Amino acid sequence: MDFPLYAPAEEHDMLRETVRALADEKIAPRAAEADEAGEFPWDVYKALVATDLHAIHVPEQYGGAGGDALAAVIVIEEVARACASSSLIPAVNKLGTVPLLLSASEEVKARYLGPVARGDAMFSYALSEAEAGSDAAAMKTRAVRDGDHYVLNGAKMWITNAGVSEYYTLMAVTDPAAGARGISAFVVEKSDEGVSFGPKERKLGIRASPTRQVILDNVRIPETRMIGAPGSGFKTALATLDHTRVTIAAQALGIAQGALDYAIGYVKERKQFGRAIADFQGLQFMIADMAMKLEAARQLTYHAAAKSELAMHGQPQKDLTFLSSAAKCAASDAAMEITTDAVQLLGGYGYTQDFPVERMMRDAKITQIYEGTNQIQRMVMARQLLK
Ligand code: CAA
Repeated sequence: MDFPLYAPAEEHDMLRETVRALADEKIAPRAAEADEAGEFPWDVYKALVATDLHAIHVPEQYGGAGGDALAAVIVIEEVARACASSSLIPAVNKLGTVPLLLSASEEVKARYLGPVARGDAMFSYALSEAEAGSDAAAMKTRAVRDGDHYVLNGAKMWITNAGVSEYYTLMAVTDPAAGARGISAFVVEKSDEGVSFGPKERKLGIRASPTRQVILDNVRIPETRMIGAPGSGFKTALATLDHTRVTIAAQALGIAQGALDYAIGYVKERKQFGRAIADFQGLQFMIADMAMKLEAARQLTYHAAAKSELAMHGQPQKDLTFLSSAAKCAASDAAMEITTDAVQLLGGYGYTQDFPVERMMRDAKITQIYEGTNQIQRMVMARQLLK
């Protein structure tokens, strides 16, 4: 698709309307219940698959919808406006498969992208470990060559949608002497013998998206499942995040928009001192600040998405690393502030589970932490600026 930089095209606006209608009808009514139960919303997944919104980024040549990076942002944003957990369906499908799009052989792409495009499988990304979070290159999971196979042992931690995803892009050490250049990326399947999952983490937010360990006990996989060349896995992992931190920014925008929209509706209805509380200038200034921060973060995110799209199609963008970190950091910090202020605008009601803003505030918090903490984002930005 040939969309102009920064500005959504008419197709993007139509896409937003479609996703919003689906989210209002089928996702928003399930969000509180899914959060409370801590259960993956399979009905939402099916609704997203039925409308081809579960992995819109997969190129047409692999059977996908061929949406550009801004289209993926809009889908994630609009789903997150209703339910942050559900927005991890399109987001993590993208996170798991971008390593393939960037670095895998045609054989691996053809084998694994089709099932994702059809909605037959989801795809997660397994980089972190218990002792290798921000310092991702400190991972210990080993992949040892054995003839034309590799044997994997170790445990990856904090893996979003682990257990519900069929496939995993998993980084493991193939040459322990080579540091970050000794890490390789593989496709691991849920059904591979020796793969198991830890218990679901008991989390503050995104409770309807399972976060579990992926445990590898002598998992033997063919060497053809390696993504890219031996030793290129860490670079692929970081290059992937250059694209997908934009999707976390999108998730943060959606959560914040949901909270802002709800709060605006509330202050116009709620009466104190004989009038709607929206009449009070102190609250008007809060609303104005919330919308201003949100729109600034949105423009930065769309700008980063446009750069991501160009970079995906053979036009490297030297500022993509900076912009994707900046968008993720700005949008998630904005989302935390906006959702906290939305709770404040609803007062005591906002603090209860009878209203959605407390869930949105809990969900916003993770966007400052995953795909690199906002401290790591600032480090990445500073490195780009100072190098
Ligand atoms: N693209 C491609 N290659 C890159 C790169 C990029 N953006 N950034 C660095 N590299 C290359 C470097 O050039 C270097 O290669 P050479 O040695 O060949 O030059 C190699 O990668 C190592 O780079 P650094 O020395 O800069 O690596 P580092 O160990 O200092 O760490 C880091 C870099 C930025 C701190 C990185 O570890 C990082 O981003 N940490 C945060 C981890 C993270 O984001 N985890 C997210 C987990 S996924 C998740 O959260 C998903 C979810 O649940 C939804």
